[in-house]
Amino acid sequence: MTHELTAPRLASASSKTTESVGWWRDAVIYQVYVRSFADSDGDGVGDLRGVRSRLPHLARLGVDAVWLTPFYVSPQADGGYDVADYRTVDPLFGDLSDADELVRAAHALGLRVIVDVVPNHTSDRHPWFREALAEPPGGPARARYHFRPGRGPGGMLPPNDWESVFGGPAWTRAAGGEWYLHLFAPQQPDLNWEHPEVAEEFASVLRFWLDLGVDGFRVDVAHGMVKAPGLPDIGRGAQATLIGTEPLPFFDQDGVHDIHRSWRRLLDEYGGDRIGVAEAWAPTSERLALYVRPDELHQAFNFRFLTCPWDPALMRTVIDESLAATAAVGATTTWVLSNHDVVRHVTRYGGGAQGLARARAAALLMLALPGSAYVYQGEELGLPEVADLPAEVRQDPAFLRTAGQDGLRDGCRIPLPWSGQEPPYGFGPAGTWLPQPRDWAGLSVAAQTGDPHSTLELYRAALELRRALPGLGSPDAGPLVWQPSPEGVLLFTRPGFACTLNGRGTVVELPSPGRPVLSSAPVETDGRSVRLPQDSCTWWAL
Ligand code: GLC
Repeated sequence: MTHELTAPRLASASSKTTESVGWWRDAVIYQVYVRSFADSDGDGVGDLRGVRSRLPHLARLGVDAVWLTPFYVSPQADGGYDVADYRTVDPLFGDLSDADELVRAAHALGLRVIVDVVPNHTSDRHPWFREALAEPPGGPARARYHFRPGRGPGGMLPPNDWESVFGGPAWTRAAGGEWYLHLFAPQQPDLNWEHPEVAEEFASVLRFWLDLGVDGFRVDVAHGMVKAPGLPDIGRGAQATLIGTEPLPFFDQDGVHDIHRSWRRLLDEYGGDRIGVAEAWAPTSERLALYVRPDELHQAFNFRFLTCPWDPALMRTVIDESLAATAAVGATTTWVLSNHDVVRHVTRYGGGAQGLARARAAALLMLALPGSAYVYQGEELGLPEVADLPAEVRQDPAFLRTAGQDGLRDGCRIPLPWSGQEPPYGFGPAGTWLPQPRDWAGLSVAAQTGDPHSTLELYRAALELRRALPGLGSPDAGPLVWQPSPEGVLLFTRPGFACTLNGRGTVVELPSPGRPVLSSAPVETDGRSVRLPQDSCTWWAL
């Protein structure tokens, strides 16, 4: 048997068991990278009307919510993560009524909507930063950012040795000789969260979008808003490589938690089911769990799972540590394999047929684990990274500033293929802001629909089963128990359910754990024993 769906089909999403205890605890949330999802007006850039037109794809896929990447007014120096006006939609993406209609249309389909908020930095074109630049050194508007005199003769050297995540120094010299801090591109000056107006402004921005009806926020660089007192030197280079593994004076400072507590109080004023999800890079699972304490945010991306190589023993360790760390604070784990900042996991796992087989298996593993899962647009199509983009079309500031933390991020941001035989594959009326490969016709939504062997149908079947079987996903259904298994194979059970992952390069034979209900590759079973294909994951009903 292969992808056959044998569990009962559900009439509607309302049968979910965890609705009353917090929808986010086991939600599957789909990341829409707005620029690359669907284009309604033919400028080659995805937009809000494009997203609205494609909502039926997401409803049919079976996700619970959508996270939209920034669509606010921005010079687009970093794909919109450089915001110049937090309350206005950039004309590139539409206008406020498009945002309003999108939220309503999503809700009508039973999909919640999370939007991005970018509080660590503004655009250099934000009115606050323009005001700051217009002032002499020491001026009061500069106090909303981190301006400092330089070191060395004439203040020619940066105030400390911090490096930008995108490469190069984290400081740029401004008119009048002072330097300003930017942990990302120079067009993204870091805000000073000790200034009371900064906190007031962001509380107001959150209310603006909550009043419009959004269901929560993905908090960009949620680990970055507070810097160590005195901005101490680090004393070593290649700092971007230390993010997420070692303590750094510009990330994961204890003070950020006060901000998240205040945001939680604000979210709770809106009735209890609006959520915050932290994009937080912390050195350990325990440090990451601090962001999801009961009075802080609801979720934090589990990047240790994302960065784990294809190695079942390591994956098991990451799963155990993640579950233990979040359980210790009463939260659930938020699994993720890809996003707009990292190489797509088909390619990370080796590319080609092997990478795709592993990516399909990893998806089933992720969707079987207790907690919430994030799906990055295109992973349901098995899209690979596009590695061979010519330099002249690349737009990632990390590319322009040397290789930073995330390497070259354009290759995971290629506009989606929806239908048709050639670019733009139904993405929009004409053109795409990054070129699509000529051989993506077979990967489009239309091409994969109805093909039982396609990755799209695998995701659809998995998400449907996940709604039907509480032992899948729901953290409240009971414990995950590891069962004895050969080296390179994972086998765990949950109430009524078992999952096997064969991470070896060869077929493995096992006593049958149950009745197979879904598999990333065909399994052979005679009812008593089972042959698991290499690089595969299978779900079993018990
Ligand atoms: C986050 C975003 C990334 C952006 C950076 C700066 O890491 O995911 O795309 O470049 O923040 O805002």
